[in-house]
Amino acid sequence: MRTTSTVAFSTEHSKRLYERTRSLLIEGGSSSSRGPGNYGEYPIFMKRGQGSRLHDVDNNEYIDWMMAFGALPWGHADPEITQAIIEGASSGAHFATATEVEIEVAELLRQIVPNAEVVRFANTGTEAIMAAVRIARGYTGRPKILKFEGHYHGWYDDVLLSSNPLPVSALGLPHDPVRIPDSSGLNRHALEDTIVVPWNDVESLQHAIENHPGQIAAIITEGVMANMGVIPPAEGYLQALQSLAHENGIVFVLDETVTGFRIAVGGCQQHYKLDPDLVTFGKALGSGLPVAAFAGRAELMNALTAGAVLHYGTHNASRIGMHAARANLCKLMRNDGEVFRHIWNLAERLDLGLMDLFRRKGIPAIVQRVGPMFQIMFTERPKIQSYREFCQFVDRKAYQQLSLKLFQHGVYTSPAATLHSIVTGAHTQDDVEKTISAVGEVLNSWKP
Ligand SMILES: Cc1ncc(COP(=O)(O)O)c(C=O)c1O
Repeated sequence: MRTTSTVAFSTEHSKRLYERTRSLLIEGGSSSSRGPGNYGEYPIFMKRGQGSRLHDVDNNEYIDWMMAFGALPWGHADPEITQAIIEGASSGAHFATATEVEIEVAELLRQIVPNAEVVRFANTGTEAIMAAVRIARGYTGRPKILKFEGHYHGWYDDVLLSSNPLPVSALGLPHDPVRIPDSSGLNRHALEDTIVVPWNDVESLQHAIENHPGQIAAIITEGVMANMGVIPPAEGYLQALQSLAHENGIVFVLDETVTGFRIAVGGCQQHYKLDPDLVTFGKALGSGLPVAAFAGRAELMNALTAGAVLHYGTHNASRIGMHAARANLCKLMRNDGEVFRHIWNLAERLDLGLMDLFRRKGIPAIVQRVGPMFQIMFTERPKIQSYREFCQFVDRKAYQQLSLKLFQHGVYTSPAATLHSIVTGAHTQDDVEKTISAVGEVLNSWKP
């Protein structure tokens, strides 16, 4: 932490490493979201993490609120998770055979996740969604899937559209949104079968279902819109969506890649009392290792038997990943889910402290939050309730500017306004206070 230091903040070593990556790595790493598009001239190269803190190659220390896009429910190098990884690695990282530890993690998931009758492991959230879509199509024999504007479900062709913020003039009318591919090189035929609908809008969903009778295999939704900052579901919305899906023979796929093991131990499914047919997990499940899963009603999941609906993967359920996931899930359940009380409380204190700061300094900004997931939004609005409101009323550049300045004060959040921050089991009241004070310092000389 540098808030009181008089030594000038420098990231010269990061800059030199970035120069070294030119013509070798694209944008300095392995995902554009980690490159200069979000980070300005060059990203900061990190070398070590411990608890809630990250250390960069120039020896600057940061309170980390990004936590590997939410993949670290216990922060960095948690001793129990580390020990589990060592045990897994030292007895054989992966066999690609049946293993007992895989059963144990599946049993834990069944205990934790209300709808998880049958479980299958994968490596990333993208893979889990791909498989869930394939099961839904195979099971129903229907071609189309329905997703929502502003929701991101990984980089698979069928779901890679309308997930970026754009000028509202480009989006069309809510009853007939313009479908906007997010990438070159997509399979055009895949997109023909993807229906896009505004989220938090029951009428538009109803309209889309009526327009495609007997054609929709799956409705796929995030439980909280977590790739447009943080936008909570409107009261009763997810229940209405679920009823519409079930009344129309459509598979309800709940994407808990972000919210799983974060909002509650059983994710949004538990928190909002939902009954999805299939659920997907990633990020927090492996506590830093690439572990994903999808689970659901046996009738649907049994479609995987003998590869009738095919899902393979050399690294599925790697022993090392299963060891980490087992330790993680046991720790999350400990003392009746004590850690969830901790992260909800800390997040509320941070939220209230920041809101108070914005009010006192007359800055048009709000904190949007669901439990431990939060994002600062620069807006005149008292709250942001939809993707279209986010596109129209949120100043994303101002947020990026705040985030980049916070680096100089020892606070690390993702500079992308579309992402969000996360309170973990490793964060403390001290982290909250230091962060509020760092934001205050940045706002003292704020020129958006
Ligand atoms: C809601 C949601 N689903 C799926 C994914 C894809 O997960 P992965 O990056 O592990 O492929 C993400 C990634 O951020 C996500 O936010």
